[in-house]
Amino acid sequence: MTRKIAIFDTTLRDGEQSPGASMNTEEKLIIARQLVRMNVDVIEAGFPISSPGDFKSVHEIGKIAGDTCTVCGLTRAVDKDIEVAAEALKSAKRPRIHTGLGVSPSHLRDKLHLTEDEAIERAIHAVKYARNFVDDVEFYAEDAGRSDQEFLVHIIQAAVKAGATVVNIPDTTGYNMPWNFGTRIKELRERVDGIEDVTISVHTHNDLGMATALALDAVQNGATQIECTINGLGERAGNTSLEEVVMAIKMHGEALDAHTDVVTRELTRASRLVSSITGINVQPNKAIVGANAFAHSSGIHQDGVLKARDTYEIIDPADVGAAGSEIILSARSGHAALRHRLGELGYTFDDAAFEDVYNRFLEIADQKKEVFDEDLESMVQERQREVKA
Ligand code: KIV
Ligand code: ZN
Repeated sequence: MTRKIAIFDTTLRDGEQSPGASMNTEEKLIIARQLVRMNVDVIEAGFPISSPGDFKSVHEIGKIAGDTCTVCGLTRAVDKDIEVAAEALKSAKRPRIHTGLGVSPSHLRDKLHLTEDEAIERAIHAVKYARNFVDDVEFYAEDAGRSDQEFLVHIIQAAVKAGATVVNIPDTTGYNMPWNFGTRIKELRERVDGIEDVTISVHTHNDLGMATALALDAVQNGATQIECTINGLGERAGNTSLEEVVMAIKMHGEALDAHTDVVTRELTRASRLVSSITGINVQPNKAIVGANAFAHSSGIHQDGVLKARDTYEIIDPADVGAAGSEIILSARSGHAALRHRLGELGYTFDDAAFEDVYNRFLEIADQKKEVFDEDLESMVQERQREVKA
């Protein structure tokens, strides 16, 4: 059996930080129900102290998450934040407090005005304080991706000793490359006493388009929880995309020695739901859930897919709940695709007639981005009238 990788969804917290994505409690509950249906392991439902609305959302989601899905509330390493999160999480069967602070030189110096020793003290206090309220406490080392590795080892060691059950190593600014992020995780595993008894989580951002690659690199080096969002929604260029990491693990599980328990056929539904609720469109060429993820446009590809789907598709669309492979008829389409579509519409032609039909099709296609069934119907009917006359 491969290692179970827990999927920690933060669409409702970090995803909501995407400009224009804010959601009310009702909307968050709709998404939370879908996340439960998908069997994610953790829902980060909000940042309870940030507003009464966020408090309510965390509380309401706690009521519907059931006893297999953990509900998590974010806090700063501040007592009041932790108390409010604990209160909001009282409704959850599996509550988790997610607390922490910035650990990179710029966060310590410019944002928090703390020395390294003071930051360690604050981390220890926050974890211990949170453990007074819940048994499951996740410590985040914000901007770990740009931290001094020696200091990161010390602060993670302190958090583990203080009682953290999960340690989160975020690449908050999406700065890392796959070849140097995983090594940080590996070193933590080698140097932090007791880390084998806690979950190592990664939380990567997409500023250089590396979020998915970094998360997988971390998994390869021992992380067993990935923090991610539907459609990769999130601050700036977004967070790790849930659908991408889940499908990458599904396809390469053996090599990664990893699996998730996410119900992948719910991915497309989840993507559409988040997009319609937030009003943020998914780019058409987005991996897994984009409108073009299973669309084939060039003649060579269409010919291949019509002969055998896996010539140009690595994922069965049904596995992610998508409608199916799509052949887009355009001026780039060849004979095979046109013959196939006309056949589906009930039209067959001998070779000579088909050549004429194909030439008529190209004339239309050169004037349009895409040729639709209505265009084909009127083209065939016009030809039939001409042939009869
Ligand atoms: O990106 C980040 O570091 C975060 C933390 C608050 C976990 O979102
Ligand atoms: Zn983040």
